[in-house]
Amino acid sequence: MTKKLYIETVGCQMNVLDSELVVASLRKRGYELTRDSGDADTILFNTCSVREHAEEKIYSALGRLKNAKQKNPNKIIGVIGCMAQNHQRTVFERAPYVDLVVGPGQLHQVPDLIDKIAAGGGQQLEVSLGRKDGTRTEIERSHESFDPLRDPSMRPTPFQAYVRIQIGCDKFCTYCIVPSVRGPEQSRHPEDILAEARQLASEGCKEITLLGQTVNSYRYRDGDRTTRMSDLLYALHEIEGIERLKFVTNYPKDMTDDLLAAVRDLPKACKYLHVPAQTGSNRMLQRMKRGYTIEEYREMHQRIREWLPEAAVTSDFIVGFSGETDEDFELSCDLVRECRFKNSFIFKYSVRPGTKGADLYADDVPEETKRVRNNELLALQNEICEADNQRFLGRQVEVLIEGRSKAAERRDEQGDAVQLVGRTMCDRIVVFDGNLRQVGQTLPISIYDANAHTLFGAVVTQHVGPELFSLTT
Ligand code: SAH
Ligand code: SF4
Ligand code: F3S
Repeated sequence: MTKKLYIETVGCQMNVLDSELVVASLRKRGYELTRDSGDADTILFNTCSVREHAEEKIYSALGRLKNAKQKNPNKIIGVIGCMAQNHQRTVFERAPYVDLVVGPGQLHQVPDLIDKIAAGGGQQLEVSLGRKDGTRTEIERSHESFDPLRDPSMRPTPFQAYVRIQIGCDKFCTYCIVPSVRGPEQSRHPEDILAEARQLASEGCKEITLLGQTVNSYRYRDGDRTTRMSDLLYALHEIEGIERLKFVTNYPKDMTDDLLAAVRDLPKACKYLHVPAQTGSNRMLQRMKRGYTIEEYREMHQRIREWLPEAAVTSDFIVGFSGETDEDFELSCDLVRECRFKNSFIFKYSVRPGTKGADLYADDVPEETKRVRNNELLALQNEICEADNQRFLGRQVEVLIEGRSKAAERRDEQGDAVQLVGRTMCDRIVVFDGNLRQVGQTLPISIYDANAHTLFGAVVTQHVGPELFSLTT
């Protein structure tokens, strides 16, 4: 008999990929997905610990399930991912009716653990070793990369896929929980990555996004041979069927010239680089232990502009980190003005117990100040986004069509003629009227309107060879 699975995913792309793989492994055990948690035999939350808010939302969601579990004790409720690793038994203490807690390093065990619970085995907890609970090798082994054979039917679109090239992180920025929950930085064997990419291509995948917390720090040593991120891009570029290669997230210090040259020289490499700065203030960078000065970040940004003048560069910022003054915050605004990022994700500092930042520094910027700074930086970034997008008016861009636009989903537009959404080579979102048959194709779109986050266009109907595009970004 088929069983029903409901899964909710929060957090970064790593979690989106993990959920896809967990769902695929449960499908093999006879599970089907449902959108209705009330209808599900098993409910999973794939969680994030990067900010307190993300964790609290999960506890609220768990709270809402208490009655359902009382009514139907056979319903299996699981918390998987980063918060499972971070809170471990605390999850059972705060929500005693949870059956399953599994960290990101044990996801391959989820189907067996669910079977165990169903057979009356009681609550199950599987997590990796903490960063101080063994030798480096023991800790590394306890964080197993979960990259089983892929199943295209599990992905939001069959022509786009994430591929993990690295797990964990060793940078230990003082505010960040990721090195604790995702374990030591480990790069995957290049042959495994290539085999996965080839399989994806043979199933019709056109766009691959390589994932790592500091993806450009990728390095695989095999005897005296070292494979760098740029080498990997060259090798992946050879795969027939793959049209676009992206990679996130970059660490500013590892943005080497060989990588910039690869992105410039490889036509399939998207001219899009997410390189979080976090702050514009040297004093804050030092307290965050980011490992670079703002002068070094500027120099790196300048190099990107020289090698890749048309590339879209995006960033993350934290506002209200411990000790951040108005002057420090102004320096972040200056950096945004100067670098003119295509976009920035802006976060209010959230103190994470267990990090160096929580031990060393007081969370001393008032919430209201964080909120005001967040809004101010966001408004500044939005102004830049809007002005930048205006440059595209009247231009033609090459768009990989992803599916129905959000508006079309909301309006529940029926039939084949619907509003569609896709992305340019530099990761700009384009919305236009089209036909569902065009999903998965790469088409020229002429842009007639733009706001801060979206370009609006129309499909160019006459046949135009790719060499005639006025702009390939
Ligand atoms: N590995 C990536 C980012 C991982 S977390 C990198 O190094 O850039 C994604 C973003 O969340 C970070 O870039 C940072 O801006 C933000 N973040 C991380 N910890 C945070 C915290 N404690 N409070 C607020 N934002 C945080
Ligand atoms: Fe966190 Fe820093 Fe590692 Fe990014 S580089 S995951 S911000 S510790
Ligand atoms: Fe969150 Fe874990 Fe990603 S903490 S940001 S889901 S690595």
